[in-house]
Amino acid sequence: MIPVVILRAVTVLLLCVTFLQSVKGFPLHTSDRWIVNESGKRVKLACVSWASHLDAAVAEGLSQQPLDFISKRIKSMGFNCVRLTWPLFLLTNDSLASLTVRNSFQNLGLLQSIHAVQAINPSIIDLPLIKAYQQEVVKSLGENDVMVILDNHLSQPGWCCSNMDGNGFFGDEYFDPDLWIKGLTKMATIFKGVPNVVGMSLRNELRGPKQNVNQWYSYMPKGAEAVHAANPDVLVILSGLNFDTDLSFIKKGALKLSFNGKLVLEVHWYSFTEGQAWTSQNANQVCGQVTEKKVRRAGFLLDQGLPLFVSEIGVDMRGSNVNDNRYLNCFMAFAAQHDLDWAWWTLDGSYYIKQGVVGMNEYFGILNSNWSEVRNTTVLQRISAIQLPFQGPGLSEATPHKVVFHPLTGLCILRKSPVEALRLGPCSNSDGWEYTDQNILSIKGTNFCLQAEGEGKQAKIGNLCSASNSRWEMISDSKMHLSSQINNSSGVCLDVDTNNIIVTNTCKCLSKDNTCEPASQWFKLVDSTRN
Ligand SMILES: *[C@@H]1O[C@H](CO)[C@@H](O)[C@H](O)[C@H]1NC(C)=O
Ligand SMILES: *[C@@H]1O[C@H](CO)[C@@H](O)[C@H](O)[C@H]1NC(C)=O
Ligand SMILES: *[C@@H]1O[C@H](CO)[C@@H](O)[C@H](O)[C@H]1NC(C)=O
Ligand SMILES: *[C@@H]1O[C@H](CO)[C@@H](O)[C@H](O)[C@H]1NC(C)=O
Ligand SMILES: *[C@@H]1O[C@H](CO)[C@@H](O)[C@H](O)[C@H]1NC(C)=O
Ligand SMILES: *[C@@H]1O[C@H](CO)[C@@H](O)[C@H](O)[C@H]1NC(C)=O
Repeated sequence: MIPVVILRAVTVLLLCVTFLQSVKGFPLHTSDRWIVNESGKRVKLACVSWASHLDAAVAEGLSQQPLDFISKRIKSMGFNCVRLTWPLFLLTNDSLASLTVRNSFQNLGLLQSIHAVQAINPSIIDLPLIKAYQQEVVKSLGENDVMVILDNHLSQPGWCCSNMDGNGFFGDEYFDPDLWIKGLTKMATIFKGVPNVVGMSLRNELRGPKQNVNQWYSYMPKGAEAVHAANPDVLVILSGLNFDTDLSFIKKGALKLSFNGKLVLEVHWYSFTEGQAWTSQNANQVCGQVTEKKVRRAGFLLDQGLPLFVSEIGVDMRGSNVNDNRYLNCFMAFAAQHDLDWAWWTLDGSYYIKQGVVGMNEYFGILNSNWSEVRNTTVLQRISAIQLPFQGPGLSEATPHKVVFHPLTGLCILRKSPVEALRLGPCSNSDGWEYTDQNILSIKGTNFCLQAEGEGKQAKIGNLCSASNSRWEMISDSKMHLSSQINNSSGVCLDVDTNNIIVTNTCKCLSKDNTCEPASQWFKLVDSTRN
């Protein structure tokens, strides 16, 4: 008998050691624009939002799949982190916090959800809401090596956000600054020492008629200090104004905090931020304009040495929304170029109840309506291209080079062998490229360069790199068309054929035309130090 007991003890010990190892390396801090771990190595946040702030104040999906299944799915889809939302009143209203999951559903008439959660996640159904959040959801993510960012989404449980919902800015009907500080402090306190909780986002999408820069500077540092005092291990993440689309007012140094190396700014970016511009205008021109605007409103922070977390991006996963599709092509290029930290909206395949509709399907969801499968594997495949870092402190010893990224597919130009056709493939297999002052795109450290052979023909690698067909200019407003001249004729643009082979074609959709899709011809030269 004794050996069995010892064996069991050893197993338990091993499991403990494994768990400790899997979560060591936290807390995180910032270094210049990067988020890094204790050994100073970059940790790129590739997160997915998981809603726990709607009417029921329970993490969505627990009536569909076991918690552990969902946590494991998040990890296996390549996300290393969850942006887990919470309503402020869950921490400041004791009768809400102590309401059980069962009672919360009951109050909303969601009897179906009660039965389903009881069957699928029985350990949760009779827990108080705060315990379900803390001791089940966050814990399960930790056990599966998934980091968590606690996102205070609004005050009252419910769908978010509009200008007039009373949750938008300090002093709004449901947004009392003192109560907010109290709630943040409590939240920071209960997660003190929980290693997978790496950040707190202080308030989602500041907005509404009361919003203004002076009050932002007066209240946000107070929230930040309160969180830091209660839990010095978490990154402190601050939203901008206008639904978190505008951080242009932030000047380095103007934000006075008692601590260093913990501040991150966040910004949201959707297609509808620009109304219907992506559909009603030429996609090249819109991408050029919007990218410039994003740099002015938020991207400039990276150059100031402040980390920027693009904490909401997302599209209708059915692929039928042209506005969304064009925006995503443009965003993917921006995200790769700046190697951003980001969070996809959303994991949720459906909601217990959203705006009065029971069981509402979420077309932006990574998972399908019953949370069993990935809703759109093509989109997930694309997103996976930006899950791993291209660069950053401690990434690898490889010398800096470029990869030629194709945002439409999330792939990069690969040269398998000198004789095979150039084609798209995983960026992790890319050669290192170099882009010279003469606009020559060569394989780094060789005399070989990319050459155009003519319209409709495959692009080749050759070593006569001084001719005009070896010079690639970045043209059009998006700067993502790579154009070359062949014997002084009109230019051709790099493109991919239906088999993902790299060809050159007539440059398309350069301006004006709003019906034309340029993205097969969009390429972005991305800095990388990946091996
Ligand atoms: C920091 O991250 C690197 C790269 O992911 C990892 O190898 C290292 O173990 C981490 N450091 C600590 C202290 O966990
Ligand atoms: C606190 O929560 C309870 C239960 O949801 C609710 O009935 C009550 O109105 C809340 N109180 C406040 C002040 O929001
Ligand atoms: C997935 O998205 C792509 C566009 O990105 C679309 O063409 C395809 O139809 C979508 N698939 C499903 C199953 O919705
Ligand atoms: C889950 O939903 C998908 C479609 O979204 C459907 O094909 C599948 O049969 C459903 N599975 C269950 C167990 O209901
Ligand atoms: C360019 O012109 C030269 C001389 O007319 C010809 O030999 C060559 O094939 C042409 N190159 C291409 C790529 O068309
Ligand atoms: C291309 O044009 C340049 C000047 O614009 C000229 O020097 C060169 O000879 C031309 N090459 C061909 C092949 O026509």
